[in-house]
Order: sequence, then C-alpha cells, then structure tokens
Amino acid sequence: MHDEALTRWQRGWSAARGWNDAQRVDDVTVVRVGDPHHRVEYVATEQNARAAAHLALTDCNPPGTSWLKIATADPEQLAAGLRPLDYVRTEWLMTISLPEQALHPVPAPYAVEVTDDPSLIDVQLYGYGELAAAGRMSILHTGAVADMIHTDTAHRRRGLARAVMSTLATRAVARHTTTAHLSASAEGRPLYTSLGWTTLTPLLVARTASL
Ligand SMILES: CC(C)(COP(=O)(O)OP(=O)(O)OC[C@H]1O[C@@H](n2cnc3c(N)ncnc32)[C@H](O)[C@@H]1OP(=O)(O)O)[C@@H](O)C(=O)NCCC(=O)NCCS
Repeated sequence: MHDEALTRWQRGWSAARGWNDAQRVDDVTVVRVGDPHHRVEYVATEQNARAAAHLALTDCNPPGTSWLKIATADPEQLAAGLRPLDYVRTEWLMTISLPEQALHPVPAPYAVEVTDDPSLIDVQLYGYGELAAAGRMSILHTGAVADMIHTDTAHRRRGLARAVMSTLATRAVARHTTTAHLSASAEGRPLYTSLGWTTLTPLLVARTASL
C-alpha cells in the first residue's frame, strides 16, 4: 500500500535535504545521509519492514545512527515486533493536489523572501528584525515535497506557516507541478489538514538502539 507515494516522498525528501546517494536493496530504499549521528535512512512499506530492519541491524554502528521510516497502519505495534529497534515517533505521509491547497497571504508586518532554484524553492518570512518562519519544497519529475516547515516559537499561531505553505504551493504550481507529498509531525499535521492535505498512512520512525 502507498508504495508509489512513499517513493515519491522519499525522492523529494532526499532532494530537499541534499541526500543524493540512494539505492534499492531488497525492496528497501537505502539513503546514505553521511551525518555521523544520522548515517543512513531505510525507507520501506510494511511488507518490507523485516528486510529494512535486517539491513539496519546489520549496519548499526555507531549505535543509534541508522534510521528507518516505514509506512504502516499501526506504528507502535510494528515497532514492538521489530525490537531491538527503538520506536522514536509516528509521522504521517500526506498528499495534496497543489492547485487545491487553500491559499493565505503573508500577514503584516511580516515580509517574504523566496529563493527559486530549478529543483528547490526556499521561503523565509521575516518580522520584528528576525527570521520568523521558513519552509522548503523540492520539485522533481515525481512531484513536489514540502520539508522543514518551521515557525519560531515566538511567532506561532499568527498564520506564518500557512503563508509559507501558500507561497511554496503557488511557486510550484507556476512550474506546472501538481501533486505534492510530505511527512507530517504530530505538531504539523493540523496545519496541513487545515490547508486541505489528506493523510495516506502513518509512518513509523525508528532507529537502531542507542547506547
Ligand atoms: C507546526 C508549525 C510549523 C505551525 O506553525 P504556525 O506558524 O504556528 O502555524 P499557523 O499559525 O500558520 O497555523 C495555521 C493553522 O494550522 C493549525 N495549527 C497550527 N499549529 C497548531 C497547533 N499547535 N495545534 C493545533 N492546530 C494548529 C491551525 O488550524 C492554524 O489555524 P488557526 O491558528 O487559525 O487555528 C509550528 O508549530 C512549528 O514550527 N512546529 C515545530 C516544527 C514542526 O513540527 N514543523 C512541522 C514539520 S512537519
């Protein structure tokens, strides 16, 4: 279930983060991140969860540096069956047809800055002399992926994140990109739902046990 959406999201997510080394092993996507604390990501559907866990557990040094994202209806139950991997959190794979996303303007007195590269759109909102909110969207032939949507705590619930999402969607649609995906945190999910995004599946976020 959701194999294609998961693949589209993984490709865009990797592109948004600059992780260019990805390969398929036993129907698991293995993304070499290269950070000493976050060396590798294994992305898989539930049918391939055991293969992903096996790959992660055979490449688990230093402890806690191999991460997994697995699409499953019940992340906590799956995590219990994949011990000794550590359950970290649940996220949600979401999608939208971008022309249908609700649009909201940047509220005063904030100002928007956009960096529009061929495969990446970066949006930053400034106000009261500081960076208040930001977000990114990668644009690939497989669609768009929103990533790193964030509002500084002092500026929350003023409509900044929805203005960031609106700017990203407008720019992506101008490039004839329609379908978008993202992986939502528990905190971000109400924002995306309020903009019209729908949830495809929960995602288990796990990692190899840390010391
Ligand atoms: C999630 C986050 C980006 C929201 O930023 P924000 O600028 O406060 O969001 P907005 O003000 O644009 O909210 C728009 C709508 O989203 C929903 N929403 C946003 N934050 C919410 C919250 N904490 N609880 C419930 N609904 C929320 C509401 O419907 C809100 O509209 P309303 O304020 O009129 O009710 C911000 O809380 C954040 O940076 N969190 C930490 C990082 C994170 O989790 N990012 C998401 C990664 S997927």
